[in-house]
Amino acid sequence: MHTVYKTPAVTAITRPTRDLDADLLVIPVFEDDDLNDERDLDRASGGEYTAARERGAFAGKLYEQLFTPMSGDRWKTRRALWVGLGPRREVTAEHLRRAATVGGLVARQRRFSSVAIVARSSPAVPDSRAVQALTEGAVLANYEGTSYKTSDEAMPWVDRVEIRIAGEADRADVERGRVLAECTNVARALSNEPGNVLTPREFAERAAKLARNADLKVEVLDEKKIAGLKMGRRMVVARGSSEPPRLVVLRHEPKKAAHKAVLGLVGKGITFDTGGISIKPSENMDKMKDDMSGGAAVLCAMMAVAKLRAPVRCIGIIPTTENMPGGRAMKPGDILTSAEGKTVEVLNTDAEGRLILGDAMWYARKLGVTHLVDIATLTGACVVALGKTTSGLFGRPATWVEQVRRASERAGDRSWPMPLFDDYKELLKSEIADFTNTGGRAGGAISAAVFLKEFAGDLPWVHMDIAGTAWAEEAKPYQPKGATGVGVRTLAELALDADSWVNVR
Ligand code: BES
Ligand code: ZN
Ligand code: MN
Repeated sequence: MHTVYKTPAVTAITRPTRDLDADLLVIPVFEDDDLNDERDLDRASGGEYTAARERGAFAGKLYEQLFTPMSGDRWKTRRALWVGLGPRREVTAEHLRRAATVGGLVARQRRFSSVAIVARSSPAVPDSRAVQALTEGAVLANYEGTSYKTSDEAMPWVDRVEIRIAGEADRADVERGRVLAECTNVARALSNEPGNVLTPREFAERAAKLARNADLKVEVLDEKKIAGLKMGRRMVVARGSSEPPRLVVLRHEPKKAAHKAVLGLVGKGITFDTGGISIKPSENMDKMKDDMSGGAAVLCAMMAVAKLRAPVRCIGIIPTTENMPGGRAMKPGDILTSAEGKTVEVLNTDAEGRLILGDAMWYARKLGVTHLVDIATLTGACVVALGKTTSGLFGRPATWVEQVRRASERAGDRSWPMPLFDDYKELLKSEIADFTNTGGRAGGAISAAVFLKEFAGDLPWVHMDIAGTAWAEEAKPYQPKGATGVGVRTLAELALDADSWVNVR
């Protein structure tokens, strides 16, 4: 098996560009870029940059690429990749992040092991955010989908990244970017693992090890302890499987937490979702190995939160199990009693995520969280509604939803709010129980969220549906294909920014 990611050494430096010493110089450029702040660059390219512009061979369009040599005796770096950023005024941190990923991926394709990136200033992105985003992008490029081929060579890694910035270089910005991207890569690696490798027990074991190394407090509850918690419904999802379930609880308890808030993060950890007795069609069922991506996001966000010493207490909860058909599996029509005490009629055993999440949210409340976010590959309906690049946000109050949305924007994880009007509750009406576990096709992502809402108590709560965004079907110049690690940076950015939301209720 290949190692699937490697975190390069990243430094921010203020030396003149010509003194940068790397295999490849990555130069982000805007449309209509006169390079006023970096006059040497075009000259060093032997005028190739301007020539390409004049020929119309390069216009600085988003992620457009131009390769030139760099010469001139005092230049140490001999090759440059110019990456388009689009119009200067519209540039966001996400564009910079992706441009850096383009640079990293191209470097790897050409077997270069060191990269220098020129941070250009743009009006909408403060320098410190730019350095963080460029760092993230470069680290995110150092990722490969897991391969179990016995004869296969991965592209080499980039070992060293230098970010050249005109103003002050702050190590904290690099460090934040490096940790956030590294943790994203860890989450990607976990989501890519096949179901027979990453069983619930294995997931819990790896989670415990990773979390301890990050200085988190860890508790792993086995099936007996879980049963003792009266988390009945959760156990029911696991009943069709020979693999026992686990409940992973992670705690970040900074000594100097500035406030009483406790952020609760709950992630769906289905290591493989067959659908259970309501079994899924065979086609593409293999993709359901990523149904623990929400759990991986919570684990890896908690790691980042600890490493970056977020100023707020956080509790991460990951219920993990398989959803399998079997002699003891739950059946359509079964009635379950939740830990909360509410009864549920199971109309479809494939709507399993909400069952384990509902109980985990109840447990989070029991542990004293004050603000709740859950994240899950929950519904195909969310993919229909928002596509493969935007996650759905559901919750209340609107101010809390907005906090999570803004965190996702900073993180480069796109997300958008969806409605939770009371009318939707009717979709879950049951003849014989408090509600059913499925609301039908129309508004399926919303009825799933309405179900979860029943378990949020009075807390500010957001549900993030990442069914569409957890997996990239195809590679892009700025993104390797496979697991995306969506949600890791969003949840971590949210915790890092606690000062701005502790009073939301
Ligand atoms: N894990 C799936 C959701 C999913 C679907 C994720 C496609 C990624 C891609 C979830 O457990 C599920 O099966 N949901 C059902 C719910 C339905 C039975 C109400 C769905 O979306 O079809
Ligand atoms: Zn599922
Ligand atoms: Mn399912």
